[in-house]
Amino acid sequence: ASGAHVPVLVVGTGYGGCVAALRLTVAGVDVHMAEMGMAWDTPGPDGKIFANTTRPDYRSFWLRTRTRQPLSNFLGFPLDKDVPRHTGILDAEDFAGITVYQGRGVGGGSLVNGGMAVTPRRDLFPAVLPTVDPAEMYGTYYPRATAGLGVTPVDPAWWEAADCYQYARVGRRHAERSGFPFVFVPNVYDWDYMKREAAGGVPRSALEGEVIYGNNHGKKTLPKTYLARAAATGRLAVSPLHEVTAVTPAPRGGYTVTLERLDTTGVTVETKTVTADRVFFAAGSVGTSKLLTRLKATGALPALNDQIGKGWGDNGNVMCGRANHMWDPTGKLQSAMPTAGIDNWDAGGAFAEVAPLPTGIETYASFYLSITKNPHRAEFRWNPATRNVELTWDRAWKQASIDAARTIFDRINAKEGTIYRTDLFGGNRIWGDHLTYHPLGGAVLGRATDNHGRLHGYDGLYVIDGALIPGNTTVNPFVTITALAERNIEHIVANDL
Ligand code: FDA
Repeated sequence: ASGAHVPVLVVGTGYGGCVAALRLTVAGVDVHMAEMGMAWDTPGPDGKIFANTTRPDYRSFWLRTRTRQPLSNFLGFPLDKDVPRHTGILDAEDFAGITVYQGRGVGGGSLVNGGMAVTPRRDLFPAVLPTVDPAEMYGTYYPRATAGLGVTPVDPAWWEAADCYQYARVGRRHAERSGFPFVFVPNVYDWDYMKREAAGGVPRSALEGEVIYGNNHGKKTLPKTYLARAAATGRLAVSPLHEVTAVTPAPRGGYTVTLERLDTTGVTVETKTVTADRVFFAAGSVGTSKLLTRLKATGALPALNDQIGKGWGDNGNVMCGRANHMWDPTGKLQSAMPTAGIDNWDAGGAFAEVAPLPTGIETYASFYLSITKNPHRAEFRWNPATRNVELTWDRAWKQASIDAARTIFDRINAKEGTIYRTDLFGGNRIWGDHLTYHPLGGAVLGRATDNHGRLHGYDGLYVIDGALIPGNTTVNPFVTITALAERNIEHIVANDL
């Protein structure tokens, strides 16, 4: 309620926020979480909570009147369509040079992501987080994070025979024939559930192509893991459809937090203020960076340092498809949960996940999301004329990622006698270089904050999400975001409370 006082307010309910909520509630602290997205606990008219990937509807996009599908075209036909404006689950947030996809709702990105739960190679970690001790991460916090998230490997014997992973086996054959290491990656999907989907005993989710607009079954999202355990303490309150718009020092100590309660068309129906002794920014790399950049520029938090908004990267994301020969079908049944990647990081700066193309028909296509060593870093900046936060990313910077991805796919195409697909992104383009799924940075650890996420300039303000990581994790990021949050919150609980 407006006027209330809370010991801790957490802004956002993604990985960083949920780790903070669990560890603080277990330590006996009452935690209130504000989440701008919906709770995603109520079925729609079709009896399902989430819409299917191939049939996006009002539930699918955050406040858009037309879908903005990552794969905008198929066989040359545009796929986007009009939808009612609604506080849907996937935000395709447009900046001048890049569209940043993010989950919206209680659970953040865990609601929409592919569940690939990848720990970076230890030898690459010093470049990911230079100020963090690898021994404590690999000895304590990565294991704690993977256990907390419910990360498990796929059963290799089942995988070898499963129809729904034919596309991945084709990906492996092509990678290995070109001499690239093919690595299995674990996932948070419940593999026993997927086996039962394949056997026909339960409603299909991953095998129905569900992923970017939510999974109705099988995926261990944050509301089923970290958040459920935090709620079980009895010390957690979560307010969905509440957007935090301001944080400023309160006259008698702590912080005054302004929240706007939204209706499902995105209209503010109520503005509330609460006071909080401590505020954890966990709104995701973009959400946290935008908020802090604005609060610094508009005088709400003027003592934040000049590193706010800096060090943002796209994890080098770039997508492409390859056209296979007719004797290499990838299968019309494709599990939406990826299980493997091609590691050419050392030689070419690219790690390519073998991704599904769950269209329900045989496409003869192999599809990949590459994570690459892109050196470019952008900055969030306040524009006083438009009163908006802008991002300085330049689309041309993706060329570094394309070059890195080509070290894998040019070689595979040459070996297999195949070509790139040009029908997936519109305009006969080969490369999906307009987007990222993996925003990272903007309030970097050890620069905007101390080495445990305490914001410089203010006691009791913390960053605990992907904004801390300076732009690249060499693999998919959520395990690293979770593990870093585990490390930081342990230190904060021991020293600050
Ligand atoms: P996260 O973005 O999860 O959570 C932030 C939350 O804060 C959101 O719920 C948001 O609505 C809320 N919020 C923002 N501003 C707010 C405000 N002002 N007030 C209140 N609430 C606010 N990663 C991976 O490791 N493996 C994978 O397979 C994939 N696949 C994938 C697919 C797709 C389609 C996407 C979009 C992303 C992925 N990812 C992924 C990326 C992964 O999901 C992402 O890195 C994490 O969710 C980021 O975690 P954070 O805790 O930083 O924020």
